[in-house]
Amino acid sequence: MSGNRTFTMIKPDAVADGYMGAILAQIIDAGFKVVAMKYTKLSAEKAGEFYKVHSARPFYGELVEFMSSGPIVAAILEKDNAVEDFRKLIGATNPAQAEPGTIRAKFARNIGENAIHGSDSDENATIEGAFHFAGTEIYG
Ligand code: RTP
Ligand code: MG
Repeated sequence: MSGNRTFTMIKPDAVADGYMGAILAQIIDAGFKVVAMKYTKLSAEKAGEFYKVHSARPFYGELVEFMSSGPIVAAILEKDNAVEDFRKLIGATNPAQAEPGTIRAKFARNIGENAIHGSDSDENATIEGAFHFAGTEIYG
């Protein structure tokens, strides 16, 4: 299974801005299959835990506040080479530097409120998927 799954969240900015449908369409059109999905809202505690790798960074407080500010869409996606291909599809962290046509270039507000999350390794994809979904909620 390793290598063909990634984890994503459509972040609160993109949900609030009405881009949930357009983003899901772009993901599915790019060949990703949804194997788990939920519309949910992170508590500040859960958001802090999810991003705890960044807890020493100056933007951590803002990031936790933002990620718990409204509903998100969380999903596990399946495709060959999923992690790398998905990072290409979403584009650079800073939308001003994201390739034209990428999800962040099209839908993000700024470097902090940047529309979408994508796992950065197979290992983190597994950890992050398990953070949000029970095994019985994954239909692979
Ligand atoms: P993500 O984990 O959400 O997919 O984003 P990423 O890998 O492209 O970027 P990462 O370095 O992991 O940063 C996580 C999230 O923190 C916010 N951030 N804000 N204000 C800033 O300078 C700044 N830098 C990062 C963004 O929401 C970023 O996606
Ligand atoms: Mg990251």
